[in-house]
Amino acid sequence: MSEKHLFFDGCDTVALAQKYGTPLYLVSLSDIEEKVRQLKDAFTERYENTRIAYAGKAFLTKGMVRIIDRLDLCLDVVSGGELDCALQAGFPPERIEFNGNNKLPWEIDLAIKNGVGRMIIDGFHELDLIIESAKRHGYTVPVLIRLTPGVSADSHDYIVTGKKDSKFGFPIDSPALFETIERAMDSEWTNLLGFHFHIGSQLEDNKVYLDSLDIVFDLLRKLRKEKNFAPKELNIGGGFGIRYTEESNPKPFDYFFTPVMEKIENFFQQEKLPRPHVVTEPGRSLIGEAGRTLYTVGSMKEIPGLRHYVLIDGGMNDNIRPALYQAKYHVVNASKFDEEPSELYTIAGKICESGDILAKDVLLPPTKPGDILAFYSTGAYNHSMASNYNKIPIPAVVLLYQGKDELLVKRQNLEELHQNDLIPKLVQEL
Ligand code: LLP
Repeated sequence: MSEKHLFFDGCDTVALAQKYGTPLYLVSLSDIEEKVRQLKDAFTERYENTRIAYAGKAFLTKGMVRIIDRLDLCLDVVSGGELDCALQAGFPPERIEFNGNNKLPWEIDLAIKNGVGRMIIDGFHELDLIIESAKRHGYTVPVLIRLTPGVSADSHDYIVTGKKDSKFGFPIDSPALFETIERAMDSEWTNLLGFHFHIGSQLEDNKVYLDSLDIVFDLLRKLRKEKNFAPKELNIGGGFGIRYTEESNPKPFDYFFTPVMEKIENFFQQEKLPRPHVVTEPGRSLIGEAGRTLYTVGSMKEIPGLRHYVLIDGGMNDNIRPALYQAKYHVVNASKFDEEPSELYTIAGKICESGDILAKDVLLPPTKPGDILAFYSTGAYNHSMASNYNKIPIPAVVLLYQGKDELLVKRQNLEELHQNDLIPKLVQEL
């Protein structure tokens, strides 16, 4: 019976759907370990003075924090909430790097009070807040400054962050950049280690990294001449693309790191300067393909001559990416994994939005209510972007490891859904 089902990390996905209910996020620990090994092989094991900071925004839970810790990675956080999750799970603060384009005073304070490893400065005003907080806590903060090199990456406009017209970081030619560099160099409360840039996400071409380096190197030459400043650290961000569908063209890590590291090493050799520590900050490429989402087919609707809808028990609440970025996913019928995909279906969620379509015109074997569908590569930016719209509880996440399964996140229940709702006196007295 079970060989006709889809297996994932040694587990029968249809049995998991029965055990935990659907919608259900699955995360394969074996897959995470394998991706981290591949990245270490291509980067940290191959080049000295390098490190990896996992971008928590892709997927972060207390259990995930522990996995990142056990794999000896650093952690990039972008909010007080992500930082708190990491601290509560016991992640060493000195291995935390704090990004974000509008860090709030309390977030900066929480980070500095706990002695985080890096603050990535994203604006002039933020530096003031960092210095004030550092003084209060008597901690000289290691900082990088985030640059927007101004290259256009070939990805969806919403997930491109390194172009000049961006809310992130400083354009290389902005006067505020120079003021910020001077201030960070002069303050006894900041230790300016170097620069950070992140070009975009789901990138499949190494050229954008190389072009960005050219622009950053121009700045470094200028800084050396005018300020006698040489960076000790350079963070090149994340953004490495993954396989979503058969049309995706993801590249192995060394496709990016070999030319990038060669270019960095050449530049510093020419400048007769020691090569700075190089940091990468990937999220999606470590967790994306390690995730699958299971759904149960409810109703089916055929609009003759037009479309055959399969309606599932989840939707844009647990995966906003198709609605937000027109993202495409590979999907299979996990209950009939051994059958040929022969029918064209459109898979729609249960949310009251016509845009709640998770996959348009995909081939599946003849599908029936009660079948389990599995979406591939949902590990990144699915659970972390989930919402309660239509008052729908956020699904559970189950961790899989070589045939074993265990809850990583409980399914939200109805009580938790309204636990912060109040009925004010003003309403009671109506
Ligand atoms: N570092 C910084 C500063 C970032 O802004 C990001 C992503 C990353 C690292 C990690 O990028 P990754 O390796 O995961 O591509 N919600 C969108 C993606 C937004 C990415 C924002 N920044 C999506 O679902 O495609």
